[in-house]
Amino acid sequence: MSVASLPGPLADVSVGRNLPAMRTPMTEVIEPAVAPGTRFDERFVVRELLSRSHRSSIYRAEDAAAGGRLVAIKFPLLSVESDPAGYARFRREEEIGLQLDHPGLLRFLPVPRKTGRPHFVTELLDGCTLADLLHAAGRLPERDALRIAAVACEAMAHLHALGFVHRDLKPANLVLGHDLTLRVIDFGEAAPPERKARLLAALTPIVGTPEYMAPEQVEHRPNDERTDIYSLGAVLYEMLTGVVPFQNADAWASAYQRTTGDPIAPRELVPGISPVAEEIVLHALQRDPAQRYPTAAAFLAELQAPERVAISGRAGRLRPPRWRLSLHGTPILAGVLIGAGAIAALVGLFIILTKLAPGR
Ligand SMILES: Nc1ncnc2c1ncn2[C@@H]1O[C@H](COP(=O)(O)OP(=O)(O)O)[C@@H](O)[C@H]1O
Ligand SMILES: [Mg+2]
Repeated sequence: MSVASLPGPLADVSVGRNLPAMRTPMTEVIEPAVAPGTRFDERFVVRELLSRSHRSSIYRAEDAAAGGRLVAIKFPLLSVESDPAGYARFRREEEIGLQLDHPGLLRFLPVPRKTGRPHFVTELLDGCTLADLLHAAGRLPERDALRIAAVACEAMAHLHALGFVHRDLKPANLVLGHDLTLRVIDFGEAAPPERKARLLAALTPIVGTPEYMAPEQVEHRPNDERTDIYSLGAVLYEMLTGVVPFQNADAWASAYQRTTGDPIAPRELVPGISPVAEEIVLHALQRDPAQRYPTAAAFLAELQAPERVAISGRAGRLRPPRWRLSLHGTPILAGVLIGAGAIAALVGLFIILTKLAPGR
């Protein structure tokens, strides 16, 4: 039987019965809140603000068409709504969400007749995020960490089978329920795999959460399901060690470190971690996607049966990150270099033309 289809897949996770309270983000934004009592779609009555990020606001609401059952309503911020790219992303999040049907993925409610501001409706989760749990517990027992990663991994496999990559897997986007379930949430970055590198990739700003981002995401190279495998590997690393793989005061420096080197071996930080757990984490965190688990199913198989994992010695082959010139973090330097290149090209052209000019 697959893990997520078990009743309360986290039933044997020791931390699962003692969850801390959910601490939702409450970013300050200049935008009026939806007044309690406001009705949407002739059935959802808004009760209170649950979360507010730089992208969206989420409200708790009652569904009058289902005996007052509680739901969550997500609205894009007005600034996102008025930005064509941001608005398209919000619509895509709903479009993808409505295709999901798996116990490990947030459930979206189809609403045939929408009224009022853009929004979508999902089930309301009762529990806390893995970020809240890690904040309260530091690190988790190895068995719990592998189990939580396995349940998330199975949900990922389902998302990948539908043709989407999540691209923002992180502890704040994994919700542990009091009913001992785990749900992957937030499909705001989800999209089909990108097979081609972006044009002018080195100058394109990066979106997402640097600490859990795969190297190919940092560099705008093609990304696919192995990108999620890397991020889930980073989440597993944090569950086991209590810290994210590349520790740096500057999150973007940590993002670039993963493009030139490997993280510190988990057992160097916490000697009590088993060699197989370390092997699994480092396999998921390979810099080159071709060296990672090829699919979520392959990752899941090892998370579910760690006793069968062979130690390849990868912990002994880790290479520390190297310094690298990055144009993302230094737009002025990038501008100066491009300007100098353009001037050099013009001077070269001028010299060639004057040499070729007739009469000389
Ligand atoms: N359906 C839900 N039920 C309860 N809490 C939720 C729900 N969806 C999101 N949250 C809370 O709100 C936070 C932000 O939600 P998320 O979908 O990640 O929004 P954003 O796109 O703004 O990051 C989550 O980390 C979680 O704490
Ligand atoms: Mg989020």
